Amino acid sequence: MTPILTLQSARLILRQWQDDDLPAFAEMCADPQVMRYFPAPLSRLECAALIGRVRGHFNEYGYGLWALERMDSGAFIGLTGLLNVNFEAPFAPAVEVGWRLARRHWGQGFASEAAWTCLRCAFAQLHLDEVVSFASQHNVPSQKVMQAIGMVQDLAGTFEHPRLPPGHALRPHVLYRIDRARWEQTLRS
Ligand SMILES: CC(C)(COP(=O)(O)OP(=O)(O)OC[C@H]1O[C@@H](n2cnc3c(N)ncnc32)[C@H](O)[C@@H]1OP(=O)(O)O)[C@@H](O)C(=O)NCCC(=O)NCCS
Repeated sequence: MTPILTLQSARLILRQWQDDDLPAFAEMCADPQVMRYFPAPLSRLECAALIGRVRGHFNEYGYGLWALERMDSGAFIGLTGLLNVNFEAPFAPAVEVGWRLARRHWGQGFASEAAWTCLRCAFAQLHLDEVVSFASQHNVPSQKVMQAIGMVQDLAGTFEHPRLPPGHALRPHVLYRIDRARWEQTLRS
């Protein structure tokens, strides 16, 4: 499938990864605050490997985690995108929308703006029927993004993340969903 290389919103360009994104990406993923709801911060090597996997996902499926660039400054600020759920779960197979931004770019609506752009891509370009999102139940900022883009919590969908060991504080996850009808309704409101 031909990858969707770029998307655009009012203030952001969602684009393919460039080799020179690595330092800023590694800095973001080494920040304990950014990685608070993940098992651990990532090393530079782990970040490079992740970029490789993201590129592979684009090549295989045509979509993935886009690098986020601010239009005003050209700065790399994080990632947002669409990803196939890659673990066993009652709601899989599914496409997930996810995000991670460097701390100095929080609190300005960039994550929600990028996520909304990804939903438009999912429904208008990829013609998906539904998009899900999930986060540790403690990750309130992420859940606020889900709510801001019109996703609705599936209370029956709360699950234990299988990639984390039983008893791990981050293991309980909440599940949010948005289907095409709800997206169209959100567009009109
Ligand atoms: C999750 C994360 C991306 C949310 O970032 P964020 O900046 O809080 O989210 P948004 O872009 O939606 O911005 C919303 C905030 O910007 C404010 N804001 C300012 N200008 C705005 C604008 N023009 N439009 C919308 N919101 C605006 C909102 O009031 C809101 O502030 P509040 O949280 O104090 O209520 C960020 O916390 C993060 O990267 N966390 C680490 C990674 C992570 O946990 N990822 C998810 C894993 S599941």
